Amino acid sequence: MDASMQRYADNLKTEEAAQSYSTKYQRIWHKRLSDSRERAVIRAALALTGGPHSRVLDMPCGAGRLTRELLPFGKEFYCADYSPEQLKICKSRYPDENLKVVQASCFELPFEADFFDLAFSVRLSHHIGDPDQRVRYLEELFRVSKRYVIATFFDARSFKNRLREFRRTFLGSRKRGKFTMSMEQLAKIAAASNWDMKAAIPISRIASGHKYVVFEKRED
Ligand SMILES: C[S@@+](CC[C@H](N)C(=O)[O-])C[C@H]1O[C@@H](n2cnc3c(N)ncnc32)[C@H](O)[C@@H]1O
Repeated sequence: MDASMQRYADNLKTEEAAQSYSTKYQRIWHKRLSDSRERAVIRAALALTGGPHSRVLDMPCGAGRLTRELLPFGKEFYCADYSPEQLKICKSRYPDENLKVVQASCFELPFEADFFDLAFSVRLSHHIGDPDQRVRYLEELFRVSKRYVIATFFDARSFKNRLREFRRTFLGSRKRGKFTMSMEQLAKIAAASNWDMKAAIPISRIASGHKYVVFEKRED
């Protein structure tokens, strides 16, 4: 992990940060709105993968905000995150589910190749500053899944990103941009690993730059 990613990961590692993150999407009104839209997008993305799948990875699961959307689509669930505190909250949120929680870094997932049928990875890539590490993260997801990967990316061509760039260039905004990727870039990285980009669904065309991207491994 490079230094800025390490700082980001360490910031979310504390109990205080984990508690705060676990309620963020209910506390803040616009997050509540985007959360409900996001869940509809997740269901649409998951529907493209069929299922129920034998083994599903949720990484980073955080406090388990989205894990429940995955439950109808799998039989065995692994929830992985860098932060043990986030994992504790995630586990306690689903007392009746047999979730396996695993502390791990997204750059070195402790699973063999093709271990999962579906790897699900939400809201992490736009925190990865180094472009090579973003590729490595995606390649790790491709390595551990034998069929599907669903991951989010902040689309470089989204309205939200263009607006941020406009504000920075012309209005002197100091707000740090998210680390973005274009859909063309993603399709190229996928193809190099023998995967196809099956769909890219925005959470919102105006209010969010995040897209849920569904990848499927090519038949041998
Ligand atoms: C924005 S949260 C997203 C959590 C969840 N997917 C969601 O949408 O609610 C990002 C999560 O990534 C975890 N994280 C940060 N760096 C990581 C790394 N290098 N490897 C794995 N997880 C990491 C953090 O602990 C945090 O739980």
